[in-house]
Amino acid sequence: EKDGYAHFMLKEIHEQPAAYRRALAGRLLTGYPWVYLPELQLTAERLRQFRSVHIVACGTAYHAGLVGQTAIERWARLPVLTDVASEYRYRQPLITPETLVIVVSQSGETADTLAAMREARRQGAHVLAITNVVGSTAAREADDVLFTCAGPEISVASTKAYTTQLLVLYLFALHMACARGTLPAEEIGPIVEALGRLPEQAAALLERADDVADYAQSIAWQEHLFFIGRGADYAVAMEGSLKLKEISYIHSEAYAAGELKHGTLALIEEGTPVVALATQPELYEKTVSNIKEVIARGAQVLGIAAAGQPDLSVHAHRTLTIPDTHPMLAPALAVIPLQLLAYYASVTLGHDVDKPRNLAKSVTVE
Ligand code: F6R
Repeated sequence: EKDGYAHFMLKEIHEQPAAYRRALAGRLLTGYPWVYLPELQLTAERLRQFRSVHIVACGTAYHAGLVGQTAIERWARLPVLTDVASEYRYRQPLITPETLVIVVSQSGETADTLAAMREARRQGAHVLAITNVVGSTAAREADDVLFTCAGPEISVASTKAYTTQLLVLYLFALHMACARGTLPAEEIGPIVEALGRLPEQAAALLERADDVADYAQSIAWQEHLFFIGRGADYAVAMEGSLKLKEISYIHSEAYAAGELKHGTLALIEEGTPVVALATQPELYEKTVSNIKEVIARGAQVLGIAAAGQPDLSVHAHRTLTIPDTHPMLAPALAVIPLQLLAYYASVTLGHDVDKPRNLAKSVTVE
């Protein structure tokens, strides 16, 4: 059932190109309205009425939500609040009928996410669930559902569920932008094309898994590791850090690259490994400055860059390049080496990859 892979996690990482194809299947068009989501109850008129969006989720799904926030703000021009479900519920969220609440949950059964969703509905929000499980509680109780079509995910550490959540969030952000008229057609076309290229690009990236395995072996006995990035890269850094902690038990932290010098830089010393994501052209030079800051304190940097940008290998000790894509979509590629890093570090240390200590696949307690 593992199809010859040593672990479910590795199988699921390698299933991502196929999962991307399923998540996009039938949903991309080549002209207005660009995105086809006929399952939605939300009409274009209703989509124009929303004044704010709240994205609520836990763990990895929350990290997908942070990327979704960037896409919705940028493309559909609405203010977005993204929060973890266990906090959102208790913060007396400012919900009105003009609030769209998006809950993101692989299982559709996470207790805190369901409770947040019920509270949002009680207060009159329209709730859209993005979930992988047909027939799950979230799918049944939400006003609207978009399925991620990742296929069953067995490994406790989420991989293909996360990346397909990203894809569905991108699709929904574009759909909203079409309805609201906030993004010119000449910008939408290239995004739609870039979405269509993601499956083959993910496959190309997976062919270079050995490079990551090699790097993972070099850091597996380190005590700490840092992930840094700006913008969408920061959200990916958070996901990379969670994955590494979760299955390799190596302590790591994700930092907004520009925030390091406000305290955390003190932890960087000779040999500290830092994974620096620099896939965002607008932020490239700024991130390079932050890479120089950590190198000056002795850090060993693995840089993750996008093809078509200035060569990061002149700054970082090692570089991994992801295929060229629209900057907003880079997380769907950049996270793949980070998933592999966590996987190979865990294997190197001899841990139970698919069943990490203290964790359960579905968290049904609050
Ligand atoms: C980490 C992981 C968890 C889940 C979280 C939410 O790899 O899998 O952080 O993402 O427990 O689960 P769902 O998406 O089922 O609500």
